[in-house]
Amino acid sequence: MTCAPSTVCFLICLMAAAGPSLARAAKAPQPPADSAAPAPKILVAYYSRTGTTRAVAQELASRLGADLEEIVDTRGRKGFWGWLGAGRDASKKSKTTIAPVKRDPAGYDLVVLGTPVWAWNMTPAIRTYILANRDGFKQVAFFCTMGKNGDVKTFAGMAELCGQKPLAAMALRTEEVKIRQYQSGINKFLIALKDTVDRQGGWN
Ligand SMILES: Cc1cc2nc3c(=O)[nH]c(=O)nc-3n(C[C@H](O)[C@H](O)[C@H](O)COP(=O)(O)O)c2cc1C
Repeated sequence: MTCAPSTVCFLICLMAAAGPSLARAAKAPQPPADSAAPAPKILVAYYSRTGTTRAVAQELASRLGADLEEIVDTRGRKGFWGWLGAGRDASKKSKTTIAPVKRDPAGYDLVVLGTPVWAWNMTPAIRTYILANRDGFKQVAFFCTMGKNGDVKTFAGMAELCGQKPLAAMALRTEEVKIRQYQSGINKFLIALKDTVDRQGGWN
């Protein structure tokens, strides 16, 4: 679904995620249109070496009506030597050089950060992006893709670097993404996001 970044679109996406229970709630009396909260602006910013995280980022952006920013690592990460250097740089928590980004994350209510897990860590590209932009992050949410494990350490590192806890976090396995079995994970993530926003009384 392609939709504009509006509150209505965000709610519709969440209702689609939650199924009948939220759909029933949609029939409840609605507040007058002029009392609606302003539309949240959401940015999905991600790095992907081989396309798995990109596929999830695109789906999330579509479901959230969010803007999309691909973070490009200018260091070669292809081939055997690229792979070796990638693991080494991630485990050493090294920064890298990223191409200039198109969007200013400070202009968004929520920045959703996505990374593959490398050596039980976030990628150097996401580390570099966070370090360059964290002062402008209003609120964050995280997602990662991984072969098997490392999400807990990766998310802890991202939260520490951002200086705040994520509103929600989602880890998907590469295999699930490849066979497109990630809708229920995304649904849970969107519901967790909505619950946290509701609990805090709206967008900060
Ligand atoms: C250098 C390197 C290190 C990796 N380390 C881990 C790891 O610690 N744990 C894990 O489950 N998967 C690991 N993986 C697998 C990736 O996280 C996984 O394939 C991911 O979905 C790739 O995302 P992408 O296609 O967006 O680049 C590693 C991959 C690479 C290239």
